[in-house]
Amino acid sequence: MDPAPDKTTLEVLLDQKAIARRVRELGAQISADYRGRPVRLVGVLKGAWVFLADLVRCLDLDVTVDFLSFTSYGDGVESSGSVKITKDLDQPIAGLDVLIVEDILDTGRTFEYLLGVLEAHNPRSIRVVTLLDKPSRRLRPVQADYVGFTIPDVFVVGYGLDCGGKYRNLPDVRILRTATDEPPAAR
Ligand code: IMP
Ligand code: MG
Repeated sequence: MDPAPDKTTLEVLLDQKAIARRVRELGAQISADYRGRPVRLVGVLKGAWVFLADLVRCLDLDVTVDFLSFTSYGDGVESSGSVKITKDLDQPIAGLDVLIVEDILDTGRTFEYLLGVLEAHNPRSIRVVTLLDKPSRRLRPVQADYVGFTIPDVFVVGYGLDCGGKYRNLPDVRILRTATDEPPAAR
């Protein structure tokens, strides 16, 4: 049966200009907070790569960049606490000021796991910047140090965020709604 992809809608939530403005503001704030200190950005693949690429060019700091990637296994609809690293850091972070760059903070499960993993490597400090935050969905007591936009409980794609691997290339952040309005399986 045709899953009726034509009934999928993509309403713009945050346009390119708003995102660019906010990323510049975050860059200025982070640059001021870390003034005189080198910072290691740790991007969480894949969703954060577009945001990181823009943010890093707004940082007036001595910056190095690393990435990690992991998968979470759940019931297919929600991410779960069961997480596996599929790409570890290339460089040690012991003694460094680490700034994790995330695309979106949702239930907080992934982020809580990530913090535990990175803290075990004894960095000097860890902070987190997330482009998007959905605090109404939080199940774990975690929060970001820097938030681009606080958004309601909607499923968004674009600017690096995907649904089943698609839509990462959209230059803005859009609300994905399907015909049935069920949450996408990639969530
Ligand atoms: P958490 O463990 O529930 O906080 O999961 C966060 C991860 O779920 C994010 O890094 C995204 O990969 C994914 N995610 C959560 N909400 C969305 C969304 O609205 N669009 C796309 N991916 C999302
Ligand atoms: Mg992610």
